Formats: sequence, structure tokens, C-alpha cells
Amino acid sequence: MRFVKFEGQAPRQAHTGIPQGVYEREMGKAGFDGPVSHIYQAHPPTAWLRWEGVLRPRAFTTKRLAGVVPSLWDAPVLARSASFEMRFWRHDTNSALCRNADGDLFLFAHVGGGVIFSDFGSLDFEAGDLVYLPKGTAWRVEPSTVCEWLSIESAQPFGIPDRGLLGQHSPFDPGVLESPKLDERYAKQREQSEWPIMVKRRGQISTVVYPFNPLDTVGWKGSLSVIKLNWRDIRAVASHRYHVPPTAHCAFASASVAICVFTPRPIESSADALKVPFFHSNDDYDEFVFFHSGRFFSRDSAEPGALTFHPAGVPHGPHPQAFRNAEQRAGQIAEEVALNIDVAEPVEIVAPPAMELHEYADSWRGYLEQEVAEAGATMAERAEQ
Ligand SMILES: [Fe+2]
Repeated sequence: MRFVKFEGQAPRQAHTGIPQGVYEREMGKAGFDGPVSHIYQAHPPTAWLRWEGVLRPRAFTTKRLAGVVPSLWDAPVLARSASFEMRFWRHDTNSALCRNADGDLFLFAHVGGGVIFSDFGSLDFEAGDLVYLPKGTAWRVEPSTVCEWLSIESAQPFGIPDRGLLGQHSPFDPGVLESPKLDERYAKQREQSEWPIMVKRRGQISTVVYPFNPLDTVGWKGSLSVIKLNWRDIRAVASHRYHVPPTAHCAFASASVAICVFTPRPIESSADALKVPFFHSNDDYDEFVFFHSGRFFSRDSAEPGALTFHPAGVPHGPHPQAFRNAEQRAGQIAEEVALNIDVAEPVEIVAPPAMELHEYADSWRGYLEQEVAEAGATMAERAEQ
């Protein structure tokens, strides 16, 4: 169903010309690509008093996860659905040899660097790389320092989404994707000894042991490979007159999981344009944001390594301080790097309890306090008259 109806006072162009004291909330289907309405409200949609029951915005910090583990399969699962899984993995020694038979995998290098050896060769990585490991690939990591990874698994295959009229070279040209090399160091790591591969299938780990290193590829051809994309090779789509939706920053997507990468970009400068992310109810998806670096301009406080969760049914949007400061930041560069991971299936949060920042659902309270202060000031003015 595609139609546009107007009722009451509603600007004709989304995210622009929003009257003072009115708050716009986008309510849409299919992750910003389906039927949508903009609802103009007298109060911020996030200015709630309290939540009861299990549903609420949640936040976590990976800084509270202590210790290192030898493989991704030993790392804690943070969230999962029938065809999605997310983990956070820290290690400082050579990892076990792993294979994922449950789906395609992206490893985001939050901290660290080193080499990934796989069926396709050796690939250097650094912080800020998104490394794609196709389902069934055998791989292992030799870190040069302590490494922290966020893993994103999808049972359905990942691909590069259709960019539509934007063309195939934006927000990144597929030419910037790097693939492994069958170089000298790859040949050198093939020492003869017993090598186990830890295979994950249906969430269970089985181990197959070879009398040699099975990463012994001498050649390959085809359109399936380990690849990597660094966020610095993404050229963010932005408009000085219009706040583009998160989907404009989508780098990779499967049928049920979208990975959008927010990279530094100019904040809108046009006088009538909204300069912070619009309040929205993306009710066909559960949403995560993982903060990698910089200062996330729609959040009053978000540290690198933090993870937020906004489930369907919960409107979300900018924090009060960010909303108030938005006009002062017109035309400045939003220096932030974050992953926005949207999942079409209902997600179960299984992160270690120690990671949770329980005060997060109350972090929009500043809106209420401001309204109460303004109402108080108005009453005082009236009393003086
Ligand atoms: Fe969102």
C-alpha cells in the first residue's frame, strides 16, 4: 500500500520545517523502505516516566567483559534469534582454527590488528575492518596485539545491498574490498602437525583433527571469498538539507540482518533541516548500535565499546542534550564510527548480566525535566503578571 494522506498540522517534507515544540516520529515498515508515516507529537516520544515488563531500551558495555578466550566459539553470545547471533571476543594469542557451518559471519575489528589465515590465503587486518567469512570457511587469527571483535552471524547469506539510483560505487566502490593472498607467510604457516578445526553447526561445537594444517590452499578461483572493508573506505551519503535514513549507510545485508556503518559526515546545515536522527519506530526490526570510535552525536554519553538495543515496540531518537545542541552543530562534522545492526527476527538478549547499563532506559529523562522547568517558568511568569 503506497499512499500519502495528511491530517492536522504536518509538514509536506519529512524531517524538515518541524514547528518549535513539536516532535516528529517516523513510524515505518520494512526498515525505512516500506509504507511510512510521520507523526507530529506535542511531546518527545522518548519522554516516558518508567517501563514495566521486559521490553525497554537496553545498553551494555564490553569494557565489563574481563579476560581473553582462545576462540570465537569460547566468547560470550550477546544476542541471538533463529538465524542471527552476535558475540564479543577478546584474545591476545593465536586463535584456534574455526569454521562456522551455521551461517555467514562478519568479524568487526574493534581493537587490535594482525593476520587472518583462511582457506583463501592470508589477510592483514586492523581496527575498523569488517571481515567477511563465508559460511564454511576455515579461518584462524594471529594477532599482533590484544584484539577485540564483534561478530555478526546470519544464517542467510550476506551481500552488498542494491544501491538503487545512487549507483554501484556509493557509499563504497566494491573495488575497495580486499581479499586474501597466497603469499609466503601463508605457505610458512603450513607446518606438519595435528591441527583441529572447531566446527560450529546448530550452535554446537565439534572438532575434526587433521594430521596436517588444512589451511594448505595452493590456488583458488571464484566469486566466494573472505573479504574485508575498512570504514575509512566508506564515503558516507549525506545531504545538507535532509537527514538521510540509516539505510543509506547500509554496507552489507542478508534477508534478515542489515549492517549499516555510520562514519564521519557533515551535520545538516540548512535552516529548516532536522540536525539529529529523527525519532522513529522501526517496528519490523530489533536494532543494535555498536559504538566503535569518536563521539556519537545523537547520544549524550556513548563510549567506544558500548552496545545499545532498541527492540521493536520502543520508539527511539536523540537524547535531550544532543537534541538541544543540534542547531549549534549545523554544518559541523559528526565524528563518529558505529555499526547499526538491524535484525528482522525477534532477538533474545543473552549478554552476561555484568555488561548491562541498567540506567539506560532512563537516559532520556532530560526531556521531561526541561518540560517541567519550562512549565514552571511559564507559571512563574503568569504569577508575576
Ligand atoms: Fe534506529
